[in-house]
Amino acid sequence: EAIEFDLGAPFEIEYHDSLPSTNARARELAAEGATDVAVVADEQTGGRGRLDRGWVSPPGGVWLSVLCRPDLPPAHAPILTLAAAVAAAEAAREAGVDARIKWPNDLLVPGADSDEKLAGILTEMEGEADRVSWVVVGIGINVREDGLPEGATGLLAHTDAVDRRIFVQRLLERFDTLRDDPKAVMPAWRDHALTLGQRVRVETTTDEIVGEAVDVEFPGSLVVETDDGRVRVHTGDCEHLRPA
Ligand code: BTN
Repeated sequence: EAIEFDLGAPFEIEYHDSLPSTNARARELAAEGATDVAVVADEQTGGRGRLDRGWVSPPGGVWLSVLCRPDLPPAHAPILTLAAAVAAAEAAREAGVDARIKWPNDLLVPGADSDEKLAGILTEMEGEADRVSWVVVGIGINVREDGLPEGATGLLAHTDAVDRRIFVQRLLERFDTLRDDPKAVMPAWRDHALTLGQRVRVETTTDEIVGEAVDVEFPGSLVVETDDGRVRVHTGDCEHLRPA
């Protein structure tokens, strides 16, 4: 069903009942010169995930892409993805769901046997060497349980009701404060982190790093204590290793 938004600043909302992908639509808006727009859809028919994966996006979810033009060098842009993860975790928390961040930017709901994936973030950007031109931060939060892939969960599995309008509003308000205050992002991220203190295996394009995740550093690198010392990982796929 349609979501009614009365959100004023800081983002204009463009709502669609159905879209192939809110990220694709936000990129179109970027090409037209727009900024500070949030594209929201009830359903996506061609949702996209990280690493060229798809993203299953049935009706009734929160499928959202935020287009902005931050004054940042491209190397610092990952801080916005972390900011979005914090904003989504806090919106989920307010909705009564204990969402934690798995590095770099998945939201999981911890369970006794396994952690289930509640949300994911796909950031795309364009820019020059020294300055970002635009960034699209795409955030997908599962709401209903039906139609989700194995290992995924929705907000409604953990709380009775969710007002998606309020959820999106809170998320955007928090994202807006954090994008203007990058120094506040790391401490907030640490507060909601599931990864820190855990044994992890991180796969990068060239390496596999196993050890204890001890910290995250600006603009988003994971610090892993391995048998051979501390390693900083900028990007990769992280798996939490449970004790046998
Ligand atoms: C991941 O692989 O974990 C990231 C998933 C990102 C999904 C969101 S849903 C809204 C936006 N539009 C897309 O096509 N993808 C992102």
